[in-house]
Amino acid sequence: MSEHFRVQGGARLVGEVEVVGAKNSVLKLMAAALLAEGTTTITNCPEILDVPLMADVLRSLGCSVTLDGGVVTITTPAELNHRADSEAMGKLRASVCVLGPLVGRCKRAVVALPGGDAIGSRPLDMHQNGLRKLGAHSEIEHGCVVAEAEGLHGAQIWLDFPSVGATENILMAAVLAKGTTVIDNAAREPEIVDICVMLQEMGARIEGAGTSTLTVHGVESLSPTEHRVIGDRIVGATWAFAAAMTRGDITVRGVDPHHLDLVLEKLRMAGAEVTTFGGDGFRVVQDGRPQSVDFVTLPYPGFATDLQPFAIALSSVSEGTSMITENLFEARFRFIEEMVRLGADARTDGHHAVVRGVERLSSAPVWASDIRAGAGLVLAGLCADGATEVYEIFHIERGYPGFVENLRKLGATVDRVTG
Ligand code: UD1
Repeated sequence: MSEHFRVQGGARLVGEVEVVGAKNSVLKLMAAALLAEGTTTITNCPEILDVPLMADVLRSLGCSVTLDGGVVTITTPAELNHRADSEAMGKLRASVCVLGPLVGRCKRAVVALPGGDAIGSRPLDMHQNGLRKLGAHSEIEHGCVVAEAEGLHGAQIWLDFPSVGATENILMAAVLAKGTTVIDNAAREPEIVDICVMLQEMGARIEGAGTSTLTVHGVESLSPTEHRVIGDRIVGATWAFAAAMTRGDITVRGVDPHHLDLVLEKLRMAGAEVTTFGGDGFRVVQDGRPQSVDFVTLPYPGFATDLQPFAIALSSVSEGTSMITENLFEARFRFIEEMVRLGADARTDGHHAVVRGVERLSSAPVWASDIRAGAGLVLAGLCADGATEVYEIFHIERGYPGFVENLRKLGATVDRVTG
């Protein structure tokens, strides 16, 4: 029996939500624990399915992992198994980030090509090229990335594109390489900074975290640490869009508003009143219909591709016409087909979408294709006449701990329906 959500349209969301640690950070931090023998503790972890899946990946490598609410404890042995080809690997994209730590510690790795969201082609060429520069041989064989090195040495690496995953893998291999590595055109996402901070706590020598040049001075070994995951800016932004779309008033705690500077500015342009609370939260109040705004997805500090479905959902109910440009993952526009079922006036041309806002959407059965698209459909359902059925909700539950509970707390009528 599969479950789906029934979302009642017409609610104005009002209240406060607490956001916990970022999915796209915690999974990488768990992989970083492979770099140090001993027990690493990670706190403020989100209770989402990807965390136990990543725990299974680490167990298959020889770690013992316990999950207790928001605390993940990982004990890494002196000798790791270098093959990560368990069933769990195929279920999440972030599993590929064990590649860098395994090459760093074991000097060899066999890592099954990862699964994850169907949002477009996700090659690993930059990950492999970076590891090759550090002295490893790396090929794809029988569905796995196979990497091997006599020893790793520092190198100058220029990335073609500031890829989050490639930056993370190269960084986590370079911390134990001999000599200095410079990664140019590195990703600057807050989650990259979070990994750098944890690695520094473990004894790594890294300069330039949060800039496009990362300099890593390799060290002999790292020590385990205790680290708190940064708040999930994508989840925080989801609630900000929910406030703007439902003409609501939502206070979000647990997220650094500076990680959402551009997003909050866009919502101001759409007519929202936004207040920030130092480094720990913000409030979005929307009176009346939002105004149309254009969005362009780019690596951080640009507008995150993960928020593109919310930009489309907001534009669908705004006054005027918006242009949304997707520069990272072409297949994310599949979301628009579902929005059209809900009465959105939207079309795509290459990597641009044009959305003409309508007064009201109209409820329909819709299917989530990935985490963010799923959450975007729920928000759209809140702005539709009648009850919208959202299917394939396991996607949503991979990224949003307590999603339904939070929606209800804010005044939405959302039911989990079996069958
Ligand atoms: C991560 C996030 C994802 C987010 C994305 C961009 C995780 C688990 N996922 O994904 O939610 O949407 O960052 O912010 O953290 N590319 C190549 N070759 C490579 C690597 C990437 O061509 O070797 C391309 C990709 O196809 C894509 C672009 O680079 O077009 C960005 O991808 P990347 O930043 O690597 O995203 P992920 O790390 O996979």
